[in-house]
Amino acid sequence: MSDPMSDPMSGPAADPAADPGGWPVTATRHLLSIADLGRDGINEVMRVTDSFVEVGRRAIPKVPALRGKTVVSLFCEDSTRTRLSFETAARRLSADTMNFSASSSSLSKGESLRDTVETIDAMGVHALVVRHFSAGVPWQVASWVSAAVVNAGDGWHEHPTQALLDCYTIRESIGADAGLEGLRIAIVGDVKHSRVARSNVLAFSALGAEVTIVAPPTLLPPSLAGWPVVVSNDLDGVLPKSDVVYLLRLQTERATESLLPSVREYTAGYGLTRERGALLAERALVMHPGPMNRGVEIAAELAGLPNSLVTRQVANGVAVRMAVLYLLLGSGADLGA
Ligand code: NCD
Repeated sequence: MSDPMSDPMSGPAADPAADPGGWPVTATRHLLSIADLGRDGINEVMRVTDSFVEVGRRAIPKVPALRGKTVVSLFCEDSTRTRLSFETAARRLSADTMNFSASSSSLSKGESLRDTVETIDAMGVHALVVRHFSAGVPWQVASWVSAAVVNAGDGWHEHPTQALLDCYTIRESIGADAGLEGLRIAIVGDVKHSRVARSNVLAFSALGAEVTIVAPPTLLPPSLAGWPVVVSNDLDGVLPKSDVVYLLRLQTERATESLLPSVREYTAGYGLTRERGALLAERALVMHPGPMNRGVEIAAELAGLPNSLVTRQVANGVAVRMAVLYLLLGSGADLGA
């Protein structure tokens, strides 16, 4: 398998023999990278998400679309919202769900990931939602199993459903059916360690947005070759010109501290502090994938303002993941209640 980190914007190539014809119109089997989708695929997910947002507003927000299918969450890294969001999505589609936790599995007895995954696949499950601390693992898993694989975050590499829910949330806020054409989006913070940034750069630019990355030099990836972005380290200059300000979490578990003089200095240069909030354009939208370090990348009071979309992002995450699971596994069953 190719090393997905060697070209962070492209990731490992999909096997064309395994995925004839592109996704999702002729239904590829997996969602590993935003690059699998392209503009048309992203728009297709957005269109299907509209139906599931409507389902979510019903008194009983559940449809029989995936009855008889089994969706397994295979999380080898901590998660709150992504794991719960996928599980909620699968249940709202009437799929059966299974939850695999690395620490309480035979992985802790030394079983290899491959044997573990093949064991789960042999039970006849239909989808594996994979989160792993190493880049590229979902691609490996996809090569071992017959189930559909969804990348729920691999190392620093990609997090495609986060990017899809972010695109949907922006679209919902600005009311743009066509895409994010010409929208100026600033992605701010720890880009180096952020799979969210990588997937979002691909998704936002595929939909026509102009993306600016704002980060201290030590928190930029070693090479930005092939990234369709402008780079800045002047947050005060970028804020007034941005339609969307997307803040990234400082990934302290990935040893960011050694790359910064101090967290306080990071906040002084790159945090959306209360004072900087005054530099935002009137209708600028503020986003964060969560979990937030309040007072580090975003001031606590700004996270709660009306132009903050943080809660909408979480809410839309369920509908977007329903759309993804439905497009990958859908039986064509009626979406009616
Ligand atoms: C992100 C992740 O885990 O990649 N969070 C999430 O999925 N909601 C971002 C982060 O942890 O910073």
